Amino acid sequence: MKILVIMGSPREGNTYRAVKKIEEFMQSKGDVEFEYLMLKDVNLSQCRGCYACIMEGEDHCPFKDESSVIEQKMHSADGVVFATPVYVMNVSALMKTFIDRFSYICHRPRFFDKKALLLSTSASLGLKRVLDYLKFIVGTWGFEVSHSVGLVVPARQISMKKEQENNQKLEKAALVFYNSLLKKRHSPGLINVLAFHFQRVSFSKPGYTAPADYAYWKEKGWLNPKAKYYVDISVNPVYNVIGRLSEKIMERKTLKEMAELGS
Ligand SMILES: Cc1cc2nc3c(=O)[nH]c(=O)nc-3n(C[C@H](O)[C@H](O)[C@H](O)COP(=O)(O)O)c2cc1C
Repeated sequence: MKILVIMGSPREGNTYRAVKKIEEFMQSKGDVEFEYLMLKDVNLSQCRGCYACIMEGEDHCPFKDESSVIEQKMHSADGVVFATPVYVMNVSALMKTFIDRFSYICHRPRFFDKKALLLSTSASLGLKRVLDYLKFIVGTWGFEVSHSVGLVVPARQISMKKEQENNQKLEKAALVFYNSLLKKRHSPGLINVLAFHFQRVSFSKPGYTAPADYAYWKEKGWLNPKAKYYVDISVNPVYNVIGRLSEKIMERKTLKEMAELGS
């Protein structure tokens, strides 16, 4: 199994050591190969907000840096670990730059065959907020989040009890992630089904929606009214009905808005 680690800490500190422990635990289970992508060392510029990737497609990004290599690395892995320290109640700036540069994937999701493990460390506060944020983002990219693990690592000295507690959390995370990699994707929950239908309304209007989004959704066959979800997977029939009804309501609202704008 190939695991890619997206490391959002600017140093090989608590977050890096935690992922290293996950690697050790997973290697004791089977044949697992880890690759560390240290965001501090990659050539990835800050998004400058030109919208070229969203409107025209990612190939139109003015930066000729390592973004496509990084995306390719995510495609080549079976699972991705997204790891960041908490910085002022949020992800690190390195992680945020990474997320911003791949924001087009929120509109044109593609990682449905991948599993994700989310990991964050803090001195005391902010873990839930950061892990919830990461879960939402990589979920919109198509990843199935297998597990989230947050560790409090006190700034000065860590007690033996706390260290044992953290090790147990890491061992559990490694086991859950490893097992999830052996399994097929779960059937989507209601929120995911609703996200599909809401996105379909947004991206199905040529002339109103971004051309790259419309082209992508059309090419994927997601604009076909028969499509129930991004991938061919069983969808709970009740969720399907709720999704379709919600889509109709939103469609009406969107058409009204378009008429007002004269598009
Ligand atoms: C700029 C900065 C901001 C931080 N903000 C928070 C915070 O909001 N909440 C918290 O509990 N810890 C905060 N910390 C502590 C780190 O999250 C914590 O030490 C983390 O384990 C560092 O990970 P690292 O060793 O991988 O860099 C902050 C540290 C730095 C350097």
